[in-house]
Amino acid sequence: MTELNGPVVALVPAAGRGVRLGEDIPKAFVDLDGETMLERAVDGLLESEVVDRVVVVVPADMVHALEERLPDGVEVVVGGRERTDSVRAGLDSAADARYVLVHDAARSLTPLVLIRRVVAELRNGSDAVVPVLPVADTIKSVDEGGIVTGTPDRAGLRAVQTPQGFAADILRQAYAAADESATDDAGLVERIGHQVRTVTGEPHAFKITTQLDLLLARALLDARRKEGKQCESV
Ligand code: C5P
Repeated sequence: MTELNGPVVALVPAAGRGVRLGEDIPKAFVDLDGETMLERAVDGLLESEVVDRVVVVVPADMVHALEERLPDGVEVVVGGRERTDSVRAGLDSAADARYVLVHDAARSLTPLVLIRRVVAELRNGSDAVVPVLPVADTIKSVDEGGIVTGTPDRAGLRAVQTPQGFAADILRQAYAAADESATDDAGLVERIGHQVRTVTGEPHAFKITTQLDLLLARALLDARRKEGKQCESV
């Protein structure tokens, strides 16, 4: 029988310089109600109680500051030029892993239940697991000139969230075979011929990418704080 026990190591690649949120610092270091997006994502992974260790991958000049801010036991390593290089650096620091989760720092409010759902599916024997939601919009493919080239049937499409979960040896094989940069780890696993299973995603695991997302995230945290206060006063 396959050994389904063993440590789960979560990698959080946050070494990009992308400043798409319009602030002049990389997205993962944007403040969300007193904590950075990255810290909130790491807290969620630790609080889920199904993750044994967290490795965050950041730009070289952020390592020192982060080591001081992140909880004890969280390893901080230096990323590379492309996201693929950063995940590889994380994998190099996860030699002990039986399973690896790869999680976006920008999905800072990911419910613990989702992290647990992904790990449960891995321990159930799946080699690769992605959380998904149905797509609300119709999706079109377009050419470089902006002309529509196709309309895939929406019923067969899903939007993919993180954490994505993998048997560590299979993710390593996928990365060993990857010859270009990728934004989707499960895509690399598909490319080497392994099946990727889906589990139901969670709306609150949305990726904080735009100013509108940031507004929503702050409003959700505000509502959560008020609810907490109400509970305390009962
Ligand atoms: O740009 P995008 O949102 O797809 O990036 C996904 C994640 O990959 C971000 O958290 C970013 O910090 C990370 N990344 C990285 N190393 C790079 C480029 C991106 O860790 N060289």
